[in-house]
Amino acid sequence: MTETKFTSFILAAGHGTRMRSDLAKPLHKIGAKPMLGWVIETAHAAGSNAVCVVTAPHHNDIEAYLQSAYSSVTAVKQKDALGTGHAAQTALSAIGTQNQPVLVLFGDTPLITAETCQRLADEIAQGADVCVLGFETTTPTGYGRLVKDDQGQLSAIIEEADADEAQKAIRLVNAGVMAFSAEMADEHLASLTNDNAQGEYYLTDMVAIAVANEKKVTSVTAQSDEVQGVNSRADLAKVEAALQGRLRDAAMAMGVTLQAPETVFLSSDTIFEKDSIIEPHVVIGQGCTIKQGACIRAFSHLEGAVIGKDTIIGPYARLRPGAVLADNVKIGNFVEIKKAILDDGAKVNHLSYIGDATIGAGANIGAGTITCNYDGYDKFKTQIGKGAFIGSNTALVAPVSVGDGAIIGAGSTITKDVTSDDLALTRAPQKIVPQGGAKFRSRKSKS
Ligand code: UD1
Ligand code: MG
Repeated sequence: MTETKFTSFILAAGHGTRMRSDLAKPLHKIGAKPMLGWVIETAHAAGSNAVCVVTAPHHNDIEAYLQSAYSSVTAVKQKDALGTGHAAQTALSAIGTQNQPVLVLFGDTPLITAETCQRLADEIAQGADVCVLGFETTTPTGYGRLVKDDQGQLSAIIEEADADEAQKAIRLVNAGVMAFSAEMADEHLASLTNDNAQGEYYLTDMVAIAVANEKKVTSVTAQSDEVQGVNSRADLAKVEAALQGRLRDAAMAMGVTLQAPETVFLSSDTIFEKDSIIEPHVVIGQGCTIKQGACIRAFSHLEGAVIGKDTIIGPYARLRPGAVLADNVKIGNFVEIKKAILDDGAKVNHLSYIGDATIGAGANIGAGTITCNYDGYDKFKTQIGKGAFIGSNTALVAPVSVGDGAIIGAGSTITKDVTSDDLALTRAPQKIVPQGGAKFRSRKSKS
């Protein structure tokens, strides 16, 4: 791959009506990130050093997103959605070509790869004035058809609405992504007209304009799943599925075992080390690190968590942001961990909530232990020392600390600090009524 630098225009001002959403279409997420974010990051990764996003006037949410996540990206409003050609003109007036190839991308086509972007930019660097990204499909409805001349050279793109029957039969279609030389964009983008079936300014007319001006037009092709556009929630799900496939393949390629890959949901930013094992039906949200030899057992849900070496989670565990587990930790079924640091070898094996806490190395947290970290207004911390043993069904009312090696008797409600190696117990004395069970039964069966 060469390193052709280019300028990107990302078109995102369409109405997105079929999403039936108050949220702008490009902000709908796949892999836990807005589609627009994927496109921007792919453009950057491919060598785009200037990016302009074209938005609709009412899409202030897109501008806010760009400001917070991608402050170097220029946002420009397209007053009326007069077509893809008009949107590209709007971007051109905002940032110009920067004297380098221009790549036009769509905010609703998020799976395009950096390699494909780079191939298009390279075509321009090697002398083409227009390069179109096409793909073969058996269901071309809705796409612009790539029309070739007798020599097999691309001569025009004909939109579905303007196509005759013969053109409609063409299976090679326009993915939407196009690249232009700076000269081509500067000299001809402004000359597009809206003299067509939809009364729109078609960016695709740039092909026929280039041919008429004896400019060089080329095309490259991609796999159809890479250029799947999103117009509806059903498309969004298709694109999510394709993205998940990519993320799973990448994880397995770097040495992670996925026992049933199609049931595991990953995020793009997960840091995996090799020889980790992910059992079926696991969801890994954003911001997770899973270290070597760790095992995430079935039906667990993780977000913002660090899982240390050889640590075992689940089945049925939930790790929330700020869960930081060192090595050889064990988290069992129906355990929730939030904003808590667990040192080497600590165990929380059953039915517990550990939040706003630090747990020392080798501590054992019994079944049903709850850190009572919230009084309805503020959050408080629980500290448990190394080697401490917390008996089952203990409520630790924070702020509270339990020293190294201390033992808490089962069923206790701990409100005061417990010093190292002490034993604390809060338990109502047990009362025995001799033969009380038998007497109760005989009374009941008589009545
Ligand atoms: C476009 C192509 C078609 C291609 C298809 C691939 C044109 C004329 N047609 O058609 O050849 O096969 O994509 O999906 O380019 N947008 C704006 N402002 C506008 C209009 C659109 O920003 O005024 C944006 C949309 O938000 C979207 C993109 O441009 O991200 C494509 O627009 P859309 O209306 O979906 O174009 P298609 O009719 O699908
Ligand atoms: Mg479309």
